[in-house]
Amino acid sequence: MKIIIGSDHAGYNFKKMIKKHLTEKNYSIEDAGPEEAKSCDYPDYGLKVARAVAEGSYEQGILICGTGLGMSMVANRIKGVRAALCQNEFQGRMARAHNNANVLVLGERVLGSDLALSILDAYLETNFEGERHQRRIDLFDQVD
Ligand code: RB5
Repeated sequence: MKIIIGSDHAGYNFKKMIKKHLTEKNYSIEDAGPEEAKSCDYPDYGLKVARAVAEGSYEQGILICGTGLGMSMVANRIKGVRAALCQNEFQGRMARAHNNANVLVLGERVLGSDLALSILDAYLETNFEGERHQRRIDLFDQVD
């Protein structure tokens, strides 16, 4: 699975931690930036990751900011992106099983690092269930 990850300064430490975690698990992960923890604007990186997923260059995106709120607002502006801000493992699993999310959003100022990794693992290890959930996604997914 090809994954692209991005953050702002407030999500930079989680980005580093998640890259290490996923590399150890043999995922292919592309870093969309930033390259340092200097203050920056989350929309720049959120749009980069969301567009790469919408274009089909990556199957999954991961975005991290302080709360996760800004990144989820940005990513969900891009047609075809279903970004899910998750704060527990249950949401991580359901975001994939029912919503077929293609971008996971995390808040570094909200979550502990162990919890963030367990949400991430639950998210990546869960498959979409399709059927009625696909019908529901079709009702909104292509809205401009
Ligand atoms: C940065 O201070 C912070 O506003 C940002 O990381 C994010 O939480 C925005 O939603």
